[in-house]
This record gives sequence, structure tokens and C-alpha cells, in this order.
Amino acid sequence: MTRQLVTSALPYINGIKHLGNLVGSMLPADVYSRYLRQRGHEVLFICATDEHGTPAELAARQAGLPVAEFCARQHRAQRAVYQGFGLSFDYFGRSSSAQNTEITQAFARALAANGFIEERSVRQVYSVADGRFLPDRYIVGTCPYCGYDQARGDQCEQCARVLDPTDLVDPRSAISGSADLEVRETRHLFLLQSLLAGEVEAWLDEHARDWPVLASSIARTWLAEGLRDRAITRDLDWGVPVPADLWLEPAAEGKVFYVWFDAPIEYLGATKEWADAGGGDWESWWRRGEDSVRYTQFMGKDNVPFHAVMFPATQLATREPWRMVDYLKSFNWLNYYGGKFSTSRHRGVFLDVALELLPADYWRYFLMAHAPESDDSDFTWELFRATVNKDLADTLGNLVNRVLSFSRRRFGDQVPYGREPGEPERQLGERIAQLLAEYEAELDALRFRRAARALRALWRAGNTYLEQQAPWLRVRTDPDAAALTLRTAMNLIHLYAVVSEPFVPTTARVMRSAFALTGDTRSWFTAEQARALDSVPAGTAFSVPPVLFAKITDEQLDGYRSRFGGARPAEAD
Ligand code: MF3
Ligand code: ZN
Repeated sequence: MTRQLVTSALPYINGIKHLGNLVGSMLPADVYSRYLRQRGHEVLFICATDEHGTPAELAARQAGLPVAEFCARQHRAQRAVYQGFGLSFDYFGRSSSAQNTEITQAFARALAANGFIEERSVRQVYSVADGRFLPDRYIVGTCPYCGYDQARGDQCEQCARVLDPTDLVDPRSAISGSADLEVRETRHLFLLQSLLAGEVEAWLDEHARDWPVLASSIARTWLAEGLRDRAITRDLDWGVPVPADLWLEPAAEGKVFYVWFDAPIEYLGATKEWADAGGGDWESWWRRGEDSVRYTQFMGKDNVPFHAVMFPATQLATREPWRMVDYLKSFNWLNYYGGKFSTSRHRGVFLDVALELLPADYWRYFLMAHAPESDDSDFTWELFRATVNKDLADTLGNLVNRVLSFSRRRFGDQVPYGREPGEPERQLGERIAQLLAEYEAELDALRFRRAARALRALWRAGNTYLEQQAPWLRVRTDPDAAALTLRTAMNLIHLYAVVSEPFVPTTARVMRSAFALTGDTRSWFTAEQARALDSVPAGTAFSVPPVLFAKITDEQLDGYRSRFGGARPAEAD
């Protein structure tokens, strides 16, 4: 089994994330990590909060807190929410850690030593009213490409173009709103990406061949537009300090690295945080040489340029053998009634609130079943209810409760024997083995919607079998036949408990613990085991768990719609 390194894009520290952020990186990374672990791989699943840059400073200012204090609180709050969603990070770090500072500075020194850093004098936007330079998000204005009037100085949220603050039309300060802006001279370190374009292209040619189209086409477009040299320092107080020895002129003080420079390095930094906390050897995951590690990254599409082009360029430029991404899985947007989820406009469903409404597994399953993989997808309360009620309550939950409670009523607290399996059980086993193979193939290929569909088909196959065998009727005339059906169905429940775990881990645990199986260490089913359906032998004691999934009622639906706004954006405003 290979060692599998999995990272999710690091959520910004500036606030609790919404459902769209979750399904765009952390949740699929968790489903995949859980799956790999269950298949016997050694997995290291790393995430962290992305704490530097203007979003952190702006949010801290709004909260009226010193930025370090704000970040510490927000980190704890985000960590609690991710725990609530069952995200199985091996480590959830902080990009403001000492480890990240150390590695980021070492990276910069290597880049400088290799001639990829140049100090340049640049003209930058300075706000007279605020008495400071306005990097990145400190400046807002109209996107020159798509006309979006809330574009930020670093990137346009609407068309995902990466911008320079001076590109913006009608710029104004995000702090004071002042349009009294000047352009002044200041010095910054530039990463000479233009010298690296060829290497990055060659690396992509070799490594991005099997990436999903979304990721590889964004990377190609980006390269085709030309890799520009980029300033990797900023005039801010909060960030990884730029070591004094990197400046030609000692005057350039009070500068930190640009957040997009140190953020991806935090994948390494967080691994070192994990190692320093007693986790293991971080370099064995990140230094190439022991090449049994496969590295998979998860992110939303706006993050692709940074991970597919810029961070690889940085890694290559160190001339050190750092592990680079093997497979990059990216997602489109999850929309809310056809419009954007928006943190600033409080539109959509935020993760802390979601957990107050319903248990994590409801959200996990819904989000993965409708993951915005090949296209953007839409969250609506109607679709959410239909999915929960049909797939989770009717198909999975109902089967489990019906089978276990009926069997207990008719045959007592132990799995009944009945008679030997016959043709229907052989056919069922065949079907289950085939669907399990499909499910595995989809997960191996990181096609999550299709994996959810295969999982649903597995659950449905059990329902079809039960309807055909109708033990509730048969029990009167042929109790042995009914007992065989129930025993087979209980074996299906055990199989579902094992293989559904990546999607609905809490429910899976409940289902599994219904059976008093001694030494139930099975972490997956081989095709043969799926065909046999005999992991729960007759005589095994079992209990009936409480209802696994409650249906969402009309009243709940109305309540959600009025609380969160369940209309198209135009009507909502
Ligand atoms: N915080 C960024 C975002 O939310 C993602 C950073 S990913 C990293 O878009 F790799 F750079 F850390
Ligand atoms: Zn734009």
C-alpha cells in the first residue's frame, strides 16, 4: 500500500466558512482520506487555517481585536466546526506557526540563492486618508476584465482573474472607502516566475496528464497567458517577516511575505507542526526520494492557478527535491438558489449554523451527492429535503430500522438462521459485488458524485431484494425463508456500515455498533466477501438503533426558507 498525502486548500481565517467552501475542498478531501485509510493505505491528511494577508487584518479590525488574538479565536472556532463535520484531519495547523515561518524563510533564501528573487522598486497605491499603502484586498474597485464592481486588489471573485491593485478601475480603500489614492514608490521582492515558465510547463506536461479537465485547463490557460514575475512581499505588519539578509537596501523594513507565498508552504509547515507534536517524520512525506508517497490536493477552481502553476514554480526554483502534487482535484462553485454564497452579504448557510439545524451526515451526504464537479451546482432547500428524505431516510435509514426491528419482534435479539441461502441471495451477492466494484472505481478516480450514486445503488439493491422477498408477509407461511431474508439483510447493513463510512461516518458507526460482533475489524469488503454476505453470522446479538435519519417536514422546510431566504437573488433583495 502506498503512503498517501492529502491536503485540502487552507480556509481563510476571516470567518466561519459556508457549505460551498466545505464541499469545494475539505469535505471531499475527508471522504477520500477516509476511503484510502479503509483500503489500508497510510494516509496523512493535512489542513490548516490560512491566517495572513489583508483578509485577516481587515476581519480583525472589524471585530475590534488585535490580529493575533483574532486569529487564535477564529482558529479554535473553525477547528470546532470541522470536528463537528467529522473531518478526519491528521493535523489542522496554522499558517502563522513558527514552523511555517521557518520553512517559508528557508524557501525564500533558497530562491534568492538560486537567482530567482529580484528586489525592485515599484509604484504602489497609497491611501492618503489611511496613511498607508493598500495592498491586495485593502483596495476594491471594478474588474477590468468582467466589470464586477466589488473586485478586490488581488483577485476578482466573479471571473477568478488574479489582479494587481493598480489594474482596478475606480479604486477605493477598503478601510476608509476613500478614493483619495496616490501611487508611490516602494521596494519589493519579486519572484522571477518568467524564468520558470518553461520548467513549469514541462512539469505539467509530465504530471498533469491525468488530472481532471477543470484543473488542467485552468493551468494551461494560465501558462498560455504568460507567467509574470510577481511581488512576493507586502507592506503589512501581520505575516511571515522577510529576513533582513534578503534585502539589498536595509531600508525595506516592516515587510512581510505575501499571503499566497507562505500559504501553500503551510502544507509543509502544518506537517512539521504535526511532527513536532509527536506525529512522525515530516520530511519523509515531503522530500522526494522515498517515492512511495502519492500527493493529492483538493481545492476550489479559484485556487488552481496558485497550486498548479505558482506553487510548483516556487518548489522547482528551490532546486531542492520537494514533493509536488501528483493529482489535483478541483471543484466548481456551489451556488445558493442560483446566486453566490456570500460571507459578507450573509447569503447562504454557514457551517456552524448548519450543524445546529441537522447532524453532519445529512450535510455530508447531500453535498457529496451534489458536488459541483463537472459544473456549478445549486443548493436549494427543496433539493436538500428531497435528497435527505429519499436517499437517507427512505432508502438507507428505513431499511436498517425496518429490518432490525422486525427481526427482533419475530425472532428475538439474535440474528436468525432460517435456511441456507438460495438463488435470490446468490444474485443479490453478485449485484452487490458488482456495485461495490463500481463504487471503488469511482472513488479511486475521485469522481465523487458518481461514487455517491454507486453508494445509493448499493442501498437500493438491498431495498429491491427486501421488496421481492417480503419477509413481513412470508413470515406467516414460511418463517425460515423470512429469517434467511432478514439475516441476509442484516449482512447488507453491516456491509453498508463499512462502505458508507467515508460519506456518513457517524451513521456508519451507529449501524455497525448494532451488531455485537466480537473482533469486528473489517475495514472494507473484498468482492468475494461482498458476494458471500456472511460477515454477520446467525446467533450474533444485535440491537435496534434509534431512527437514523428523520425526514425533513413541510414545516421545517418553510422555516429554513424564511430564515435563510429561499428565493432567487433578485427576489430576495
Ligand atoms: N485561503 C485560500 C482560499 O480560501 C486558500 C489557500 S490554499 C493554500 O482561497 F494552499 F495556499 F494555502
Ligand atoms: Zn472579473
